[in-house]
Amino acid sequence: MTQTVNGHGAVTTSGSGSTEGDPGRGAYRGPESLADVRRALRVALPEPNSKFSQDDEWCVVAQADGTWREYRFHDYDQIFRMPGLYEKIFYDVLGCDSPRFMAGLFADALADARVDAADLRALDLGAGNGIMAEELAAVGIAHSVGVDILPEAREAAERDRPGLYADYLVGDLTAIEADDSKRLAGHHLNALTVVAALGFGDIPPAAFGTAYDHIADGGWVVLTIKDAFLASEDTSGFAAMISAGMASGALEVVRRERFRHRLATDATPLVYEGIVARKRGPLA
Ligand SMILES: C[S@@+](CC[C@H](N)C(=O)[O-])C[C@H]1O[C@@H](n2cnc3c(N)ncnc32)[C@H](O)[C@@H]1O
Repeated sequence: MTQTVNGHGAVTTSGSGSTEGDPGRGAYRGPESLADVRRALRVALPEPNSKFSQDDEWCVVAQADGTWREYRFHDYDQIFRMPGLYEKIFYDVLGCDSPRFMAGLFADALADARVDAADLRALDLGAGNGIMAEELAAVGIAHSVGVDILPEAREAAERDRPGLYADYLVGDLTAIEADDSKRLAGHHLNALTVVAALGFGDIPPAAFGTAYDHIADGGWVVLTIKDAFLASEDTSGFAAMISAGMASGALEVVRRERFRHRLATDATPLVYEGIVARKRGPLA
């Protein structure tokens, strides 16, 4: 893989030049070739001196017919449709490592509390194509239930990481159907993970609250959130909900770390907070 600055100032990451495994050419053959597909994708970022809010970031991606197409980072439905593209943009180019980092922090907290990871049953909210569940499985949490608002996310998880989730619901937790609520309750969930999915037009406080309500008392809450959403001047509702939960004791924080979630397209670090907490009561 090479990373160069092209004549227009765009950082370009490219594969070996081989077209083998290029999903646009129909060569994608399932999870075993995901790494090859990912390597062969070609992505270019805007000029490094251009600045975008996290809501507006974009890149261009080479298509099978030789054209380049623009993708807004928050158009996850379109990104998930192309195998390997989510991983390519956020992990290979922009250096995201949040799921692995948070699974490690969680495993560390479980070891301190002498809780066996095998006893946990996690609701992975904003599950996307399953990277967090893969990291949970790597630390011994084998029962994960995914929830995402996009059918494309579930399709991508089933396509790229089959068998990882015990169940995967597509729906909006701000208006959860009774059947879905029953389905979640049937999993006897005692952990909630939400990584890289709170705020920014993604998961609102009300959906987080519904997921939280489906976790048993004494269960675990593992989340990442941009530091600004926990600041006193935040208007998203997360600071009020999470900070108030901490203050009231409903959320007993056992690990809290600031870390680099990933780079922005101008190469500046995006700093998030990683929190591992015990649920000790309802959130306001
Ligand atoms: C940046 S991705 C993170 C995916 C995964 N957690 C990871 O770390 O790889 C954000 C995910 O949140 C999902 N999402 C956005 N709004 C949502 C909502 N209201 N309810 C559930 N999922 C949502 C998106 O569809 C997307 O899959």
